[in-house]
Amino acid sequence: MSQHTLFVCTSCNFATGQREHLGQRGGYHLWQSLLQCQQQEQLPPTVRVQPVECLSACNRFCTIALASPEKTTLMFGDLPALDSATAIVQLATQYAASGDGVIPRKDRPALLQKGILARIPPVLPPQA
Ligand code: FES
Repeated sequence: MSQHTLFVCTSCNFATGQREHLGQRGGYHLWQSLLQCQQQEQLPPTVRVQPVECLSACNRFCTIALASPEKTTLMFGDLPALDSATAIVQLATQYAASGDGVIPRKDRPALLQKGILARIPPVLPPQA
């Protein structure tokens, strides 16, 4: 069974001209929301939430990426810190169920139909 990582930048700004909300960065809030989803078992068990300091798309806050060695890596930005977790969980579920990690735009949650920042080919060849 493939393992998947949901990277979340914890340093992203909360909003334009506002780095923090309630004393924490926007990305931190998003990470906390996704951790809560994981604890409530809304994410597939093969998806691990991994905080990162920066995904180098700082002007497209908030940012996340989904990766798995045998699947295409997907990276997204422009995600509202407090209102994105449900859509990200849905996408992560689609990603985990997919064979190659490619989720067509029309099939993605509405919030994630735009804002794709990168689509990187798999590191390893698909398993037979
Ligand atoms: S601060 Fe989030 S991508 Fe750089």
